[in-house]
Amino acid sequence: MCGIVGYIGEREKKEFILNGLKELEYRGYDSAGLAVLKDGEITHFKAVGKLENLVEKTKNFKSEGFGLAIGHTRWATHGKPTELNAHPHLGEFSYVIHNGIIENYQELKKELQEKGVNFISQTDSEVIVHLFEENLKNGKEPFEAFEETIKLLKGAYAILLITKADPKKIFFAKNLVPLIVGKNDEDEIFFSSSDAPLIGFADEVIYLNDKDYGYAQKGEIALFSEGIKQETLFKPLNIGKLSAQKDGYRFFMEKEIYEQSAVSSETIMGRVAKDDIVLEDIEDDFFADIKEITICACGTSYHAALATSYLFERVSKIKTTVEIASEFRYKEPLLLKDTLFVVISQSGETADTLQALKMAKEAGLKTLSICNVDNSSIVRLSDKTLLTRAGIEKGVASTKAFTTQVLLLWILSLKLALLRGAIDKEYFHKERKIISKVPEVLKVDEKIHEKIRRLSKRYLHGHGFFFIGRDIFFPLALEGALKLKEISYLHAEGYPAGEMKHGPIALADSELFTVALMPKSLLYDKVKSNVEELSARDATILALSPLEFEIADDFIKTKGYDHPMLEFFEMSVIVQLLALEISVRLGNDVDMPRNLAKSVTVE
Ligand code: M6R
Repeated sequence: MCGIVGYIGEREKKEFILNGLKELEYRGYDSAGLAVLKDGEITHFKAVGKLENLVEKTKNFKSEGFGLAIGHTRWATHGKPTELNAHPHLGEFSYVIHNGIIENYQELKKELQEKGVNFISQTDSEVIVHLFEENLKNGKEPFEAFEETIKLLKGAYAILLITKADPKKIFFAKNLVPLIVGKNDEDEIFFSSSDAPLIGFADEVIYLNDKDYGYAQKGEIALFSEGIKQETLFKPLNIGKLSAQKDGYRFFMEKEIYEQSAVSSETIMGRVAKDDIVLEDIEDDFFADIKEITICACGTSYHAALATSYLFERVSKIKTTVEIASEFRYKEPLLLKDTLFVVISQSGETADTLQALKMAKEAGLKTLSICNVDNSSIVRLSDKTLLTRAGIEKGVASTKAFTTQVLLLWILSLKLALLRGAIDKEYFHKERKIISKVPEVLKVDEKIHEKIRRLSKRYLHGHGFFFIGRDIFFPLALEGALKLKEISYLHAEGYPAGEMKHGPIALADSELFTVALMPKSLLYDKVKSNVEELSARDATILALSPLEFEIADDFIKTKGYDHPMLEFFEMSVIVQLLALEISVRLGNDVDMPRNLAKSVTVE
């Protein structure tokens, strides 16, 4: 989703902004722009498409010496990806960049138009700069004019604004989407929508809270909330999260698939002790009096929730409901205080999940987040957090975040099972041994990867894919289908294997590709019958199983672990690689698929 960077100092500003935007590229965007204010003059550039286009446009532009700069990557929400709609948006003498959505922009725009203001873009963001200039024209001082502007905005925003009317300051504001202010001891000030662009530049940062706003100029960062000046409590920037590189892999997604083995060890580390599960600073008391669990998430994280809900019921013996966050928000849910509310999010910034979490908090529920990004909005808001420790994930199609989420929730299900006396020590010790095998299981088998590379050429056409499975393999089927559609743009659906005969089987013919998840350790015979029903209707079958299956058109033989979770992780890697290789053959942008954003900070 949109990315923001800003800078005040002596450094070559264009370079800092372009590098910062490059770090944010993985979030997804379709245009980019920057503006530099130096010696009282503002220069700006915008380009549609990849960042290289902006680099090309600015190649002869130099911006050394003291000044201010702002830069933005835009993921279109209001209006097409055009240069006019790209940020920064300009007034007569001011420029603004904005992430989020201004919900009341239409009424604000109408009022401004009635006063004769001319709009040149279709965006909601443009109202900000015109409102600001209108306030200035009405005699307000620049900061006062900015403050008045912010008061009028409804919705989500991270805003940076520069103006010739006060050429030494960047005005900033944040609500519901992230914005970070950083500084170092060389008197430089930085802004960004996530940590990555700041690494190597800022020493200390503030993660702004909702409704924070203020201004920054050399030697001063002034922070306000509801008209009251706030203390600026900087904390060291966590430089452990070094910027991800492809390390010889063709794509970040491929690298991240291969990393799953290593990062899963991190997920387990220190949490699975000899006789107990140890969850960082979460005391056992936190789970006392919990009668039910609700897990809320979006996309891949939702699939991780669905898969592990089977474990919470089967192993921990606790009633568990799984909710899609965007649905949950508006269904007027019954929120009972003895429910543990768990949110899952790779980014920790997903707007729908964040809002669902707020609802649960307001209703007084205990909240726990499963997240990959420390200090993200979701982490900061939830009562307790368990970090997946997957490391920065850049591919838009989530892979290692998914497997580490599932692994961590499995560990949590054992903790709850122990606390509730639902399992004995013997059961726990067996599970503990199985968990220690996960990093090995997640290692990519090169022979299988090669096989997938070869057979992918047979799956580039057809009228659709069905991924089918039962039990925890049904959510994995959903995830396999999501991966494929995200990066191949082919139609794919995940379905419970036993449900195909209730309708979808009508689609079966040789051009319907069925990817059948057939583990040996869970309901093998049931899935087998369902696949046979499809095969009898001439569907093309790609079977994943340790047991030979003669009627399959294509067959990927798995190792045949005895535990369903190990088979689950093994098949997770296979469906990820299948999506990857089909996408590569189709010539698509694997890491930044069309229309998608890594971090979905709008509704
Ligand atoms: O950061 P989150 O886990 O909250 O993101 C949720 C979804 O937007 C995300 O999983 C999305 O579906 C991915 N593109 C899946 O590959």
